[in-house]
Amino acid sequence: MIISGKTEFVNSINEFFSAEKCTLLHAATPDTSVKIIETEPVDIVIFDLSTKQHDMLRRQIKIFKQIQPDIEIIIILARAVFDKIFDMPNDWIHHLLIKPVDLSLLYVTVLTALERKRMITEIREYQEKLEKKVVERTSELKNVQERLVQSEKLAALGQSLAGIVHEINNPLCVIYGRTQLLLMQTNIPETILRNIRIIEDQVHKTKNITNRILKFSKPARPKFERVDIVSLVNDIIVLLDYEFSTQNIKVVKNFHTDHAFVFCDADQIQEAITNIMTNAKQAMPGGGELSLEIFIKGDHANIIIADTGAGIKQENIGKLFDPFFTTKSEGTGLGLPICYGIIREHSGDIFVKSRIDIGSEFTISLPLM
Ligand SMILES: Nc1ncnc2c1ncn2[C@@H]1O[C@H](COP(=O)(O)OP(=O)(O)OP(=O)(O)O)[C@@H](O)[C@H]1O
Ligand SMILES: [Mg+2]
Repeated sequence: MIISGKTEFVNSINEFFSAEKCTLLHAATPDTSVKIIETEPVDIVIFDLSTKQHDMLRRQIKIFKQIQPDIEIIIILARAVFDKIFDMPNDWIHHLLIKPVDLSLLYVTVLTALERKRMITEIREYQEKLEKKVVERTSELKNVQERLVQSEKLAALGQSLAGIVHEINNPLCVIYGRTQLLLMQTNIPETILRNIRIIEDQVHKTKNITNRILKFSKPARPKFERVDIVSLVNDIIVLLDYEFSTQNIKVVKNFHTDHAFVFCDADQIQEAITNIMTNAKQAMPGGGELSLEIFIKGDHANIIIADTGAGIKQENIGKLFDPFFTTKSEGTGLGLPICYGIIREHSGDIFVKSRIDIGSEFTISLPLM
């Protein structure tokens, strides 16, 4: 508490407040009070005004409020100059006392000022928390909205794709059938045979792509059953371990639970995890580490698949689940959209974090049974 006024007045207050746990500082000049406010937090300023000081008061309060906006102002003044302060901004004068001041009234005013300050601080903190919550909720809502738009876009695209793929599949089957007939003939020269094999190989590749498109555009209905995610992930690791070790990738398990039972289609979840693991492998052509973490949080099982690969550019993170987004020459850009479809069909969620040259982290979250 700073007291700006005559020494005799300050002494009398000092005695009155000596038993209280408050520090009283006397500022004999306006500059001293500004210096104090600049260097330490102050709850209250008491101005004991003489008749000619009201002009100085306006400047002082303005400076104080700029430095410490929540500071409480108590003004003690003579009745004769009462009207001089009427045109001050409303929130500058919090407590006004007319001379001669009874010290017990000043004491109560100080307590009221402290309580007012405490409440203002509390409201400010509450307001800040509220603002933070609004920002969080707004971003959650934005995410949900983006996901809704994404699912609608995907559903529309899926329908048209399914039709196109059926049209492509028919002639493809005819071409494939004819290559098989030609390959059965014995009198074909070697150069023609080589070309037929190239056609057969390309048809095979195209078939793979159309199958992948169908998987994305017309996903099979999940066959739900009780599945232990921990043992499912263990099985996937056994299946892929050799493939990873030949590429110098160390697979690290970090399971924080022995079991995590989920109601799901084991084949589809296996496909989603495998797609992410395949991406991780492709992101580490020179080798690295692939870690699989499983833990339970609330009523969800979480599977984190993290690699130490190339990472994903920030501007590409939002495009990962868009169909046909790929940065690979041989990629279809359907691995992650298929994953997304599967996980959403299981009422789960999928999150991505990535840093260039450090690696990527995909989290699949599935509701527990
Ligand atoms: N772990 C990862 N590290 C770096 N980039 C990744 C990773 N996972 C995905 N990506 C990026 O996301 C793109 C889309 O992945 P997605 O699996 O959908 O398609 P793809 O791998 O390119 O092709 P497909 O899976 O159909 O063969 C990739 O091309 C790649 O740029
Ligand atoms: Mg992929």
